Amino acid sequence: MTNAGEFTTLTLEERYTSTPESKQFEQELEQGFHPRSPDMLFEMVSELGLGPESTILDVGCGTGWAACRLAERTPSQILAIDLVPSLLATTMEAVKAAGLEQRITVRKASILDIPVESGSVDFIWCRDMLGDGFPIPPAVRECYRILRPGGRMLVYKTFAGEFLEPREAERLYRGLGAAPEELALEIARNRPEHAEQAFLDAGFHIEQKDVIGGEWREYDIEHGEHSPRSGLYASRLLRGRDSFVRKYGDALYEQALADALWFPFILLGKLAPAVYLLKKDAA
Ligand SMILES: C[S@@+](CC[C@H](N)C(=O)[O-])C[C@H]1O[C@@H](n2cnc3c(N)ncnc32)[C@H](O)[C@@H]1O
Repeated sequence: MTNAGEFTTLTLEERYTSTPESKQFEQELEQGFHPRSPDMLFEMVSELGLGPESTILDVGCGTGWAACRLAERTPSQILAIDLVPSLLATTMEAVKAAGLEQRITVRKASILDIPVESGSVDFIWCRDMLGDGFPIPPAVRECYRILRPGGRMLVYKTFAGEFLEPREAERLYRGLGAAPEELALEIARNRPEHAEQAFLDAGFHIEQKDVIGGEWREYDIEHGEHSPRSGLYASRLLRGRDSFVRKYGDALYEQALADALWFPFILLGKLAPAVYLLKKDAA
């Protein structure tokens, strides 16, 4: 081995010579680490002891799949809000198909102006939406306002990871809709410290923080639930750039590329999902 500054490196011979140690290393890598699945979020909710009198807000509900899962997991009343009409329509269809109309109310509303009274909600489910085109601090303050003292908020968000280089960050967040003049702000907004400061400033107590990193993606791949096609799409997009841009325009192209890079970037530590359980302490 030679010393190359920050870390030691293998010599040419060592790189190409298999040793008992290198074989053991390969075997260990093959075994995996028993990663947790995305279902761990629902397990966290089950532990909160929410009852039939409790109210849950699913903020940025998307297609409504999580609101339906929450209704299966808890006996509580659920309000699902989002801003995109087509997603709200899909949510309503999902609620109807599951026969959950008595348990789930669907409304068009923003996280920045939630149409419920202060101190009236027991639990907020905020998955994969915090900072999606809006500033985080006022959104967190609004969530704090509507929670009852003692209430909790679960936040799952994918942050910029340790290995995300500045040019990659620019390309990724541009592709996901950040205006050029807001790019630096968008990158800063996607650091965990920014969200954590917003939680604390709003008055929340961070009860739990769990850096998921690539764990769920490992689970998906190990259980065959996510074929690594996004890497394949990224390759096709890179090789077929001119043709895709000519046919679909650069905005759609850049979004498709950002989407295709999302899972590989998570696996590579360039994006780092994390989950927080926040508590509004009783006065
Ligand atoms: C990536 S999707 C996640 C959807 C869902 N929570 C999930 O986990 O599948 C982000 C969602 O946040 C919604 N959203 C974005 N800005 C919002 C806002 N200001 N208020 C409410 N929802 C918003 C989007 O319309 C979209 O449905």
